[in-house]
Amino acid sequence: MKQLLHEEAAADRRGEDLLPILDEHFGVAADELPVVVEPIMTHRWVDMDIALEEMVARDPNARLLGVGGGDQRHHSSLSDLMSNAPWGRFRSGQVDRLNVATGPDTERATVGFGLHVFHHDGSPMAVLQRVGNPEYGSQARMEVLAVDPGAAAAMLAGLRDEAMRRSVLWRQVISFSGNPYGRSMSGLTFHRRPELPADRVVLPEGTLDQVRAHVVGLGHHRDRLREQGQHLKRGVLLYGPPGTGKTHTVRHLVSAGLDTTVVLLSGTDMQHVGAAAQIARAHQPAIVVIEDCDLIAEDRDHHFGGGASPLLFTLLDAMDGLDEDADVVFLLTTNRAEALEKALVQRPGRVDLAVEIPLPSEADRRALIHLYASGLPFSADAVSRAAGASAGTTASYAKELVRRAVLLAAMDGREPGDGDLQAATDELQSDSARLTRALLGSTDDSRTQPGHD
Ligand SMILES: Nc1ncnc2c1ncn2[C@@H]1O[C@H](COP(=O)(O)OP(=O)(O)OP(=O)(O)O)[C@@H](O)[C@H]1O
Ligand SMILES: [Mg+2]
Repeated sequence: MKQLLHEEAAADRRGEDLLPILDEHFGVAADELPVVVEPIMTHRWVDMDIALEEMVARDPNARLLGVGGGDQRHHSSLSDLMSNAPWGRFRSGQVDRLNVATGPDTERATVGFGLHVFHHDGSPMAVLQRVGNPEYGSQARMEVLAVDPGAAAAMLAGLRDEAMRRSVLWRQVISFSGNPYGRSMSGLTFHRRPELPADRVVLPEGTLDQVRAHVVGLGHHRDRLREQGQHLKRGVLLYGPPGTGKTHTVRHLVSAGLDTTVVLLSGTDMQHVGAAAQIARAHQPAIVVIEDCDLIAEDRDHHFGGGASPLLFTLLDAMDGLDEDADVVFLLTTNRAEALEKALVQRPGRVDLAVEIPLPSEADRRALIHLYASGLPFSADAVSRAAGASAGTTASYAKELVRRAVLLAAMDGREPGDGDLQAATDELQSDSARLTRALLGSTDDSRTQPGHD
């Protein structure tokens, strides 16, 4: 161990002494200057990296220095590092770089640990930029050294503005994933925006238009609405049985709102709802999607004598926290509307449009089979028969029906035909397929509501 430390110290000494560089930069003893610390949220790391690089580049004499000293430097603050200088522990080394995603297919080599020495608005500054380190429980931050703490604060304010202007999150579709404190900084995942035209979404007449007008269309009138003091912030709830197209509809809306920033959350990601709302507010127009939001209300009977779950309140609070004129939509989906209803009714105004996505009617089942069988040689009669025989089933059932018909033909080495559609229907409607039907979200035949057809 001693040997190792010795080697590490020897390696350190190969670098340049950093304190004299700073002393010269500031024209005073750098280790006596105040340090202003700016913690950085994981999802803002890459934006701040871009902004800082840009700001530093305005000074032609700026330098980026690595700090040597192995792992120990990670748990030392800038002040600690400077106070270690007399022992040869504050020497230059390599700049640590860290690749961070900036889009579905792009990434950027950010500065993971490095010391920027530059002038900002004529004032000498030094910024130690570092990622968080979960081993030492440290958060990502920038430590700013300046003669005047006011100048440091002004520089940081400028940096935050620039980071927002240049943010890589604008018009992206993102979700929270992985360990937000991980070395990879993989707190966010970028998704390719889905492409799903309206003609691939089969819903009762008028339903999709209504939802799209509220979620996407309203934004086109945002200036007028703001001028006239009307609220823009909105909450939309899509509810209905599993497999009827709630997620499918969300995908269409996301594909239609090309200029929107979209944050996808599932019921289990609720710890990120505050950050999601913050991103949405900063990147308007924005949609925050909360799928299966009933999950968060699941324990309602066990919390505080039957109230809704605290997580649901976290969601409602996040919705409340945004200004009325924010062009932000909270788009919620659930297949247990009744579990949510009470809590939402207690806090009126959060959801201003609730739309049922019901089991498809017979005409819609026909349209669904046509949609998923496009290009396949099924006759209109066969499609009608299959639709007629599948009362109480879901849209995802229609998709599976076509897949099975194609599969049956493929197993026989033939092109699919009407007989296969019939055979697939018989198979899926047989008693032994009861569980399959349930898994596809279709209601049990005995409970089929005639009203749906
Ligand atoms: N209305 C629809 N029009 C066209 N296709 C649909 C429709 N509904 C569902 N589908 C097809 O079925 C698949 C599953 O549907 P989806 O995931 O949207 O159901 P869901 O309502 O979100 O169910 P859950 O409540 O289980 O989340 C979709 O990916 C799509 O391929
Ligand atoms: Mg869904």
